[in-house]
Amino acid sequence: MRVPFVDLKAQYDEIKAELLKVIERILKGGVFVGGEEVAGLEEEFARYCGVRFAVGVGSGTEALHLALLACGVGRGDEVVTVPNTFIATTEAITLTGAKPLFVDINPESYTIDTDQLEGVITEKTKAIIPVHLYGQPADMEPILDVAKKYHLKVIEDAAQAHGAKYKGRRIGGFGDAACFSFYPSKNLGAYGDGGAVLTNNEEIAQRVRMLQNHGSREKYSHEIEGLNSRLDALQAAILRVKLPYLDRWNQQRRENASLYDTFLEDAGDVIRPTVREGSTHVYHLYVIRTERRDLLRERLGHRGISTGIHYPLPLHLQPAYSYLGIGEEAYPVTEKVSREILSLPMYPELSQEEIEKVVLEIKGFLDQWG
Ligand SMILES: Cc1ncc(COP(=O)(O)O)c(C=O)c1O
Repeated sequence: MRVPFVDLKAQYDEIKAELLKVIERILKGGVFVGGEEVAGLEEEFARYCGVRFAVGVGSGTEALHLALLACGVGRGDEVVTVPNTFIATTEAITLTGAKPLFVDINPESYTIDTDQLEGVITEKTKAIIPVHLYGQPADMEPILDVAKKYHLKVIEDAAQAHGAKYKGRRIGGFGDAACFSFYPSKNLGAYGDGGAVLTNNEEIAQRVRMLQNHGSREKYSHEIEGLNSRLDALQAAILRVKLPYLDRWNQQRRENASLYDTFLEDAGDVIRPTVREGSTHVYHLYVIRTERRDLLRERLGHRGISTGIHYPLPLHLQPAYSYLGIGEEAYPVTEKVSREILSLPMYPELSQEEIEKVVLEIKGFLDQWG
């Protein structure tokens, strides 16, 4: 039995009839970019997250870029985020002309260490991007307190956490804006690229809407320069089919995580994920830690189990950021964790049998290497 890392076909099989119906409707209707499917998704996803406005865009990366621009971030500014995230978070910062400032992560939640946040802020700092990593919300209360004190914008990177809750409320409305990715393997994924910016601020919503469509509210009238970052109708229609299933799929992810948690309880030095009190994790990824990560990963691979590492090289040590001149040991928790983390197979349709096989192989490895 092979265990894939994700299985998008299992989800397709469940909703195939509904999907094919809407796809045919779009193909016959002839509206492929924007239109009522996109408007419908924006309204439904905003309502789901309990936020006033949503603007569909081309990807999660562009959602971050456009949200930063709409918040007035630009050349010479600094934006605080973590070094343990996908490069899209910092690319978006650099694209505006601003510079990323890093803060290490908390070793339990893997999200921004809020105790260190205030220490990095300078006169040039304009915004904070907390990343709701692996499906767990960052600790928003202290982040919002610091942002208020220093008049900083807060832009949530929610690419991995659709539907996650912080203190009982869905993420997406805590900061000035929140950015979602609809990349196919995300908890709410399209069949291509897509993203959305959510905000309770009408002005930010309008600015993102202009920026994503060539700086224009009316065709051929351009108040500013923007770019082409639009969500297409097919992806929006597919996401509208999937949205009503999201809570159940997230619940199935939690049940799978709970099985892993139970079965791994007596698995030697394996560190299981921790959920911060008051948060609802949506397990975009189920990430364990062990000092013998590389050997374990190899062994699982040989036994037909696919795994991932999110992320193997922290951003401050990536060649793309050598110009920042940050050396090793600058962010010790991120660096240690990057050598130990391993993402196990995780998707809603994962069966108990598959989870048992993964855990059996992990335990077999640990027994052998004692
Ligand atoms: C934390 C994080 N931020 C941003 C992105 C960018 O999203 P996209 O791939 O849709 O551009 C991703 C997706 O991979 C992500 O994981």
